[in-house]
Amino acid sequence: MSPQNILLFGATGNIGSFILNAILAQRSQFGRIAIFTSPRTAETKGDVLKEQGVEVIIGDIEDESAVKAAYEGKYTLCTHHRST
Ligand SMILES: NC(=O)c1ccc[n+]([C@@H]2O[C@H](COP(=O)([O-])OP(=O)(O)OC[C@H]3O[C@@H](n4cnc5c(N)ncnc54)[C@H](OP(=O)(O)O)[C@@H]3O)[C@@H](O)[C@H]2O)c1
Repeated sequence: MSPQNILLFGATGNIGSFILNAILAQRSQFGRIAIFTSPRTAETKGDVLKEQGVEVIIGDIEDESAVKAAYEGKYTLCTHHRST
């Protein structure tokens, strides 16, 4: 079985960062690990995450086409973003 790709929403938040760190601690169990984040957060935290092998997908979660495009690559979704 090929390793699972993960797409994580809310990964930069208080709770989401714990989820991301737990996934990264089991790095070998997964394929691509990607997060979907806002441009502002990508600017402040993106480089550190990329250094850890995380793909940083930048977009607006309210933009349907951006969210759909993020799914390219058959990801398993994990989400813990702020409720609006
Ligand atoms: N912290 C707690 O103790 C606690 C307890 C119970 C329930 N919760 C619930 O758990 C969720 C996450 O809590 P948290 O403390 O981790 O929140 P947080 O630290 O404020 O993190 C918010 C996350 O949501 C993303 N986000 C910001 N604006 C958004 C929007 N308009 N739509 C979708 N996502 C958006 C942010 O992503 P980017 O900036 O990267 O785009 C960030 O990664 C919330 O719904 C909260 O009510 C939290």
